Amino acid sequence: MLKKTVVGSLIILLFTSLNAYDLKTNMLQLGVELAEVQKSFIASDQKGVEDSIKRFSQHAHDLLGNKENFSAMLPENKKHKANEAVMSAQIISHNVQIILDAIENKYNQSGIVRREESQRAYTYIEHACFRCHNIVRDKY
Ligand code: HEC
Repeated sequence: MLKKTVVGSLIILLFTSLNAYDLKTNMLQLGVELAEVQKSFIASDQKGVEDSIKRFSQHAHDLLGNKENFSAMLPENKKHKANEAVMSAQIISHNVQIILDAIENKYNQSGIVRREESQRAYTYIEHACFRCHNIVRDKY
């Protein structure tokens, strides 16, 4: 068990350092992690939501938390849209925070309210992904 964990961590460590600046790999991973969050919400699996949003949160922060990454991410003819891209990233981190606060019951709200707000926040995260991809990919 321990051996498995150590080997696993080494592989993850190697993987992350090799690909620290590989946008495609990071985005693919973000996509997989967001899909896990969605799966947990659909399954009404509270523990699953907690685990998956924490994983997602960390990687979203690493990838989207640094404004300097944005100009690198955007194609040459889209550099002037960097502020809009930054906005997408902020929407993502804002809504991740709403879900984390709901899990911790930071504002002392009922379970129903926290669940509703978390589910809505999840859809806003997805929308922000679309938003930045539109900026990047639209021809105009
Ligand atoms: C700041 C802008 C930005 C945000 C926000 C963003 N992405 Fe991306 N994403 C990109 C860029 C740039 C690419 C690579 C260019 C392309 O594929 O057209 C990309 C590519 C991808 C890819 C395809 C990788 C490939 O090439 O096969 C996936 C999957 C992806 N993003 C998932 C997500 C998810 C999920 C989110 C939201 C949690 C998200 N992205 C948010 C900019 C962004």
